[in-house]
This record gives sequence, C-alpha cells and structure tokens, in this order.
Amino acid sequence: MQSLRCWLFVLVAGLFAFTGTQAQAQDQVTRGKYLVTIMGCGDCHTAGAFLGKPDMARMLAGGDVAFEVPGLGTFVPRNLTPDKDTGLGNWTDQEIVTAVMTGKRPDGRILAPAMPWMDFAALTKDDALAIAAYLKRLPPVKNAIPGPFGPQEKVTTLVYRIVPGSGMAPPPK
Ligand code: HEC
Repeated sequence: MQSLRCWLFVLVAGLFAFTGTQAQAQDQVTRGKYLVTIMGCGDCHTAGAFLGKPDMARMLAGGDVAFEVPGLGTFVPRNLTPDKDTGLGNWTDQEIVTAVMTGKRPDGRILAPAMPWMDFAALTKDDALAIAAYLKRLPPVKNAIPGPFGPQEKVTTLVYRIVPGSGMAPPPK
C-alpha cells in the first residue's frame, strides 16, 4: 500500500512537471509573438507591408522592398519562417539569437545595418530565445529571397534608397 501511494505521488508529480514545462514553452512562444509584433519585424520581413498591404498568408516570409546601403550593397529582408530551403529551417535557436543580437549569420557574414541588430543587441537572452521559439513555430513558407546584391549589381526588387533632397524629383500632383 505504502509503495502504491508512493508510485501515485511520483506519477502525479511527473504529470504536473510535464504540463508545467508545456505551459512554460507556450508562454515563451506567446512572449516571442508579442516581441516580434511590437519590434516591427514584419514591417520589413513581410511582403507588401511597406506598400500598405501586408500579405499575411506569407507573414514574415521575406520582404519585397530592399534597403540600399551606400557602398555596401542592397539587402532584402529575408525569409524568417522555418522553411528548410529558403528560410530559417536549418538554423538552431542559438543561431537565430546570434544573428538577431550580433548580426552574425551561421556562415559568418555580418548582416547589413538595415537589419537593426545593433539595437536588438540590448535584448535579454530570454527575450531573444522567445523570438527564436516563436519564429520556429511559424508555418514554413517557401519563398527564396534574392540578394544580397553587390553595389554594382542589378537589383530585382523594389528599393529604399537614400538620396539628397535636392536631387529628388518633385512628388506627382
Ligand atoms: C528595418 C527593417 C528590418 C527590421 C525592422 C527587422 N529586420 Fe531582420 N533583416 C532586415 C534585412 C534588410 C535583412 C537582410 C540583411 C542582409 O542580408 O545583410 C534582415 C535579416 C534578418 C535575419 C537573417 C536571416 C538570414 O537568412 O540571413 C534575421 C534572423 C532577422 N533579420 C530577424 C529579424 C527579427 C527577429 C526582427 C524583429 C525582432 C527583424 N529581423 C527586424 C531588415 C529588418
């Protein structure tokens, strides 16, 4: 009897621990979703967002407006969904955290400063991991993002470009 009670206790305790861990994981994903929303990742990484019509069926699956950085090249916001070929499907959570907080991709390339990783360096480790956990749970979307384009290369997307105000054509009437 004594040992049966003991086993029952272990079982119930185990069940609580299991549901507790599940709830924690869910909390982490909810926190990640909140952070990704308020940090504006989708402004750049969701197609159509800069044109006033974000394509929510392809949320965070890559932008359609690139950023030209004078002298460095032109950079398209990349596919953040877990698609293995065109997104972050093969990245570990830690690799995502490193890219978001230090700009360093797994292949060693440093992301252009148009991706605001210098600001995101101020994230806490827990919040950065929550962002990674949320991105990993997005529905994977196959969407190959072109570029990055070198300074002399022909760019195939729309572009944000820095121009002197004096050189700008007047806005259409
Ligand atoms: C102002 C626009 C902008 C915002 C806001 C932004 N990004 Fe980016 N992001 C970019 C650009 C542009 C690149 C590509 C830079 C390059 O290729 O050098 C990029 C690249 C990345 C990469 C590297 C992916 C790869 O395949 O190389 C990750 C990861 C990433 N962003 C995550 C995020 C997350 C998470 C957020 C929100 C917390 C976010 N970004 C917000 C513009 C942005």
